[in-house]
Amino acid sequence: PTLMVSSAAPPLCPSVNLTQDDLKKIAAYKAVEHVKSGMVVGLGTGSTAKHAVDRIAHLLQQGKLKDIVGIPTSTKTHEQAVSLGIPLSNLDSHPVVDLAIDGADEVDPELNLVKGRGGSLLREKMIESASKKFIVIVDESKLVNYVGGSRLAMPVEVIPFCWNHSLTRLVSLFAYAGCVGELRKYAENGEAFVTDNGNYIIDLYFEKDIGDLKEASDAILRLPGIVEHGMFIGLATSVIVAGVDGVTVKSK
Ligand code: 5RP
Repeated sequence: PTLMVSSAAPPLCPSVNLTQDDLKKIAAYKAVEHVKSGMVVGLGTGSTAKHAVDRIAHLLQQGKLKDIVGIPTSTKTHEQAVSLGIPLSNLDSHPVVDLAIDGADEVDPELNLVKGRGGSLLREKMIESASKKFIVIVDESKLVNYVGGSRLAMPVEVIPFCWNHSLTRLVSLFAYAGCVGELRKYAENGEAFVTDNGNYIIDLYFEKDIGDLKEASDAILRLPGIVEHGMFIGLATSVIVAGVDGVTVKSK
């Protein structure tokens, strides 16, 4: 795909020490500039997307945006949006979303993503794949050379029934890439993490590049018991990256 780096803005403010959360907020606010009155907007999940939802609510309260319909990608975002008074709907009533804005855990040079370390990958993928535009908002720590390159988790949502069997089959699919996997658990009580859809998450870790993402995706989705995986291949239309040296917009 053709990748355009469309704006390498001047340094944000070199004299100020920006935190990672400041960078997330900068990317989020930049993305919200693309939200126009009357739009159906996919509302992402996570600490970066939270800033975008706050910003949309603020602009609605100020009357600078009107008639927005939000489609939340998780119960958490649903609660946030309700508390801020953003009118909400769902894909049944609004099957076409004008613009979705969400964070990501990894962004590769072709704008493929890993998402779901917050556990909301299924609803995120449903809503973001139904969106005419999907703007991803990240701080620069999320950029990787290839999917899996952060060595952090690539989440897969599985049904709870015989999850250990699913784990074994997933790991053996990617034995060539030194894959290991584990059931995600709540840190507080060690119980299995349960998604908004009542499923479990298997976190996969790769030692090496898994290669062709489409083939990897197809192989995962062919396994019975697998609901969805966290690779978002070709879905992002642009990525806004906030770094200490400025904001960069990468578009396909
Ligand atoms: C949740 C996600 C998040 O978008 C992703 O984990 C990034 O989160 P954060 O903005 O907090 O780093 O996919 O399922």
